[in-house]
Amino acid sequence: MNILIINGPNLNLLGKREKTIYGDASFEVYLESLRKRYNEINIVYYQSNIEGELINKIHEYGFDYDGIILNAGAYTHTSIALADAIRSVTTPVIEVHISNVHKREEYRHTSMISSACMGVILGFGLDSYRLAIEAFKK
Ligand code: DQA
Repeated sequence: MNILIINGPNLNLLGKREKTIYGDASFEVYLESLRKRYNEINIVYYQSNIEGELINKIHEYGFDYDGIILNAGAYTHTSIALADAIRSVTTPVIEVHISNVHKREEYRHTSMISSACMGVILGFGLDSYRLAIEAFKK
């Protein structure tokens, strides 16, 4: 099984950024634990702060991989282009968020991408990514 995890803007700063919301673990360390736990799965990781690069990555992997786990960061709330990219490929995409965006500012309550995704997992901290892997395994 091949899974691509994509993190969008500012998620390169996990572990340093707004720790009370996003925790103090870096994604690289968490990723290592995921790879150990699911050593039968090939997990590729990509992060970019640039919207078009996220779209390019979805196009690149979106016809061959079994699943894409996407945390689009703030582009979640704004990007019709990302939603179109998700709709354009055949690989199912699960939207994830570390925080429960519905408990936060109102502008975070809207997702432009949810309706293009297979499902949404949010609010479980970094464990949201693992839950998405479990969903793909099923
Ligand atoms: C986030 C939630 C977004 O609203 C925010 O812009 C992020 C992170 C999350 O994982 O909780 O950058 O996607």
